Amino acid sequence: MRLILLGPPGAGKGTQAERLCGTHAIPKISTGDMLRAAVQSGSAIGRELRSVMESGALVADDQIIALIKARIAQPDCANGFLFDGFPRTIAQAEALRTDNIQIDHVIEIRVPDAEIVARISGRRWHPASGRVYHTQYNPPRDEGRDDLTGEPLVQRADDREETVLKRLAVYHQQTAPLIDFYKNYEAKSPHAPCYTAIAGLGSVDEIAREISDALSS
Ligand code: AP5
Repeated sequence: MRLILLGPPGAGKGTQAERLCGTHAIPKISTGDMLRAAVQSGSAIGRELRSVMESGALVADDQIIALIKARIAQPDCANGFLFDGFPRTIAQAEALRTDNIQIDHVIEIRVPDAEIVARISGRRWHPASGRVYHTQYNPPRDEGRDDLTGEPLVQRADDREETVLKRLAVYHQQTAPLIDFYKNYEAKSPHAPCYTAIAGLGSVDEIAREISDALSS
């Protein structure tokens, strides 16, 4: 099972990825989590990444493609993987195609911009694991604490409203063109992934059911 979850910031990709990876026993490959780990390391590259991410812009394609190629060469990816937040540009999707990295399914989670800002403002994050919560829609058992470790949850530095609006603009400009890219690819090639769009409004459980139905159909 090789999956791509596509959608705007805050669409619920990370939330659904956790469930899907548990169900299908495949690793979640979140470029956002990988980049945040590099930022936390405090290295010179991490400091550069921090300024790009906090501005709401995308990290350079070459850096991301190198990161992904190294990650999927790891033994835990032998039976599949889920990409959360990758590809995010046509160049990144083309890199997969050029290297004959077959994908089974692309799931697009659609959420209107107005809902995104509300979702992201309530998001809380556990840095060590990448687990995400929402103060209202998906609260932790103990306020402000991760369910599994009890460690404190934090707000992401790029979740300020002005940065979220910039990230949304970047999504529409650079990532949304992937929707037509995958639709056209599916129409033209038997090796293309199946493409399905899911409405991302509703409870986390309802959306998980729709994704599961799409994958089994
Ligand atoms: P990344 O970490 O990938 O951020 P993103 O794509 O902007 O997505 P988010 O993590 O913000 O949202 P999500 O869709 O995972 O939603 P979540 O499940 O958390 O990227 C961050 C930055 O890294 C980028 O801006 C860029 O700079 C860089 N980067 C990363 N990948 C890159 C790439 N490939 N190329 C170049 N640069 C790259 O849910 C959001 C909130 O909503 C949570 O609080 C959750 O609990 C809640 N929620 C989830 N589902 C529901 C629901 N159904 N109803 C109500 N609330 C819900």
